[in-house]
Amino acid sequence: MNEIAIRCKSIKKYYGPPENRVEALKGIDLDIFKGQLTLLVGPSGSGKTTLLSIFANILTPDEGQLWLLGKDTSKMSEKEKTNFCKDQLGIVFQSYFLVPSLNLADNVALPLLIDGISQKEAQKRAIEMLKRFHLDQRYLSSPTLLSKGQQQRVAIARAMIKDASIILCDEPTSSLDHTAGMEVMALLRNLAKDFSKAVLVVTHDHRIFECADRVVNIDDGQIIEDETV
Ligand SMILES: Nc1ncnc2c1ncn2[C@@H]1O[C@H](COP(=O)(O)OP(=O)(O)O)[C@@H](O)[C@H]1O
Ligand SMILES: [Mg+2]
Repeated sequence: MNEIAIRCKSIKKYYGPPENRVEALKGIDLDIFKGQLTLLVGPSGSGKTTLLSIFANILTPDEGQLWLLGKDTSKMSEKEKTNFCKDQLGIVFQSYFLVPSLNLADNVALPLLIDGISQKEAQKRAIEMLKRFHLDQRYLSSPTLLSKGQQQRVAIARAMIKDASIILCDEPTSSLDHTAGMEVMALLRNLAKDFSKAVLVVTHDHRIFECADRVVNIDDGQIIEDETV
């Protein structure tokens, strides 16, 4: 059995004032495993981004418990949480968030530079990572010169540069055409399989279901189906 990377029990999340609150998550129990590519799917407004944001420590649940790599997040100090996110979580968004004025290597190196690693060492490691994603030939380019699929691969390289154990992706293929989307999914699958990462992808995109090890279906803040492929 694969190791559990994320475990949540009875997670609830509300938005808005108490008299008019939206129950975005209504009690989520879920384990996400290393070595697997898990998709979280469901209609718009079902709670996907809310759940992903809780896993990413961007939001705090109103009820329930969350363990990340076996650590109870309610017992972690703010500093521990921040460090944990920096080191163990890689986050990939639909709209890449690359810095246009930096070249590819510097974009990928950014998390290392923030950690105070020297420019030279950070760039060396960034180029190695880009090589893994077949983008090293272009490491001096601006991301604006790349295709959308290539930009998303750079964003994944940046999310991976610190060797995070957990990769969280919110709609990573929805701006991409079929071929580019499948390339990105192949890459994410490879991170799960060959590097034993826990990869969780929130998606609307039916085209990519075939890439997954597991598809978790969420609707109206509840998990309604959980299928291992
Ligand atoms: N910041 C917010 N304030 C109020 N309601 C929100 C907020 N974010 C999300 N919601 C509501 O919570 C529910 C779940 O939203 P979300 O997690 O974004 O769903 P999804 O990502 O599946 O589209 C929806 O009803 C949405 O309108
Ligand atoms: Mg969303």
